[in-house]
Amino acid sequence: MAESSPDPRRRRRWWRSPATRVLAGVTTVAATAAVLVTAPGADAAASTLGAAAAQSGRYFGTAIAAGRLSNSAYTTIAAREFNMVTPENEMKPDATEPNQNQFNFSAGDQVYNWAVSHGSRVRGHTLAWHAQQPGWMQSMGGSALRSAMINHIQKVMAHYQGKLAYWDVVNEAFNEDGSRRSSNLQSTGNDWIEVAFRTARAADPSVKLCYNDYNIDNWSYGKTQGVYRMIQDFKSRGVPIDCVGLQAHFTGGSSVPGNFQQTISSFAALGVDVALTEVDVTNANTSQYSALTQACMNVARCVGITVWGVRDSDSWRSSESPLLFDGNGNKKAAYTSVLNALNAAGPGPTTTPTTPTTTPTGPTTTPTTPTTTPTTPGGGSCTATLSAGQSWGDRYNLNVSVSGASSWTVTMNVPSPERISATWNINATWPSSQVLIATPNGNGNNWGVTIMTNGNWTWPSVSCSTS
Ligand code: G3I
Repeated sequence: MAESSPDPRRRRRWWRSPATRVLAGVTTVAATAAVLVTAPGADAAASTLGAAAAQSGRYFGTAIAAGRLSNSAYTTIAAREFNMVTPENEMKPDATEPNQNQFNFSAGDQVYNWAVSHGSRVRGHTLAWHAQQPGWMQSMGGSALRSAMINHIQKVMAHYQGKLAYWDVVNEAFNEDGSRRSSNLQSTGNDWIEVAFRTARAADPSVKLCYNDYNIDNWSYGKTQGVYRMIQDFKSRGVPIDCVGLQAHFTGGSSVPGNFQQTISSFAALGVDVALTEVDVTNANTSQYSALTQACMNVARCVGITVWGVRDSDSWRSSESPLLFDGNGNKKAAYTSVLNALNAAGPGPTTTPTTPTTTPTGPTTTPTTPTTTPTTPGGGSCTATLSAGQSWGDRYNLNVSVSGASSWTVTMNVPSPERISATWNINATWPSSQVLIATPNGNGNNWGVTIMTNGNWTWPSVSCSTS
């Protein structure tokens, strides 16, 4: 049964974000004056997958491979259509910890930086998995492996702290019959999954923690039930878990089950977000793509859909032509069926109000007069200047330029319910989810943030101090 029925009368955003916002705002004081955005526009459907999904507060993502980022046909489509990125292989254990306790984030950072510079959020994938373990980990077991897993989660999450929207903490830990998959991780004790989640929560309280698996689409299937029982158990015992990812690989002989929506809504009823995380469909069957999209749209807590690659030629199962763009980058019929289903969806649970009865705040805000923050004893002063970056239906980028000192600390306070979803070119720490402390990371004094508005477009306040 649907949790929320799409209502065509309520399906459009009641504001439009302007193409550009011209601003230079500054330090220490929050931007206060709000400028009315344009009135409700014509009832035009969004023309990209990401924008269409954003209308109901959802995202539409893709897997991105670092090795393809030099291909402009690939990046053009990816930048235009998607607003969530999952690194296809670059944040997996074999990539991030090739030697024990020696970490390599170069490929992961490459995907991350590309994504946020194109207005996309990032889903981390994955921290604990029986596959794609580095060689040193594959031959490990027992308490040594348990410690190594904990260390891996801590170090990788510390590197991306405050930057990611979701982390697939544990991937593919169940057998088809709903029992636990045997693996070296499982051999460390049945509690390894909850230890992974508790470790993850402590390492980065700002990111949503997910369990991710394939063949958990059919509600009657043993594996679906096994994962459901685990999440139910975690929720009842307070083990931190925020989301479940249904990979939704409808390739290799599988197809969308008739009870798919029941599966999504049943997981959601446990109090977790649900996402379709690795979607592909044999020959991109239009009715299956349409059905899986509609099933997600019908459940309020289904937060987004990610397809596992951009073009058919990028797919891990390219011979099945399972994606939304053909090898030449042309939109396929399935693209249109997905876009239409996204455009028809009603507002999601965390989106803008449905009725334009009041004047909204922003997204064009006017900052107050630039002010310079106090100097530290014996040091110089510094100034952090904000300027508008790109904006989308649900978020905007702010560029920050620091002048006056090369060693500085900028504190950014984000008004609730806004939330910073990504940062670039800084070392970031988070005293709370609304406060960012930024220091130089060696790449100069220009950096930025992506802010999810959650309906509030007021710019954050910033203050700068020298050290
Ligand atoms: O990069 C090396 C290259 O240097 C080498 O010459 C070549 C030779 O085999 O391998 C290349 O690495 C491959 C890598 O993809 C990058 O293309 C690996 O062999 C190959 O195993 C790896 O496959 C990935 C697979 O996960 C591994 O498990 C796929 O790209 C990736 O799409 C797939 O993604 C998984 C999700 O993480 C979890 N759910 C299932 C999904 C599909 O299998």
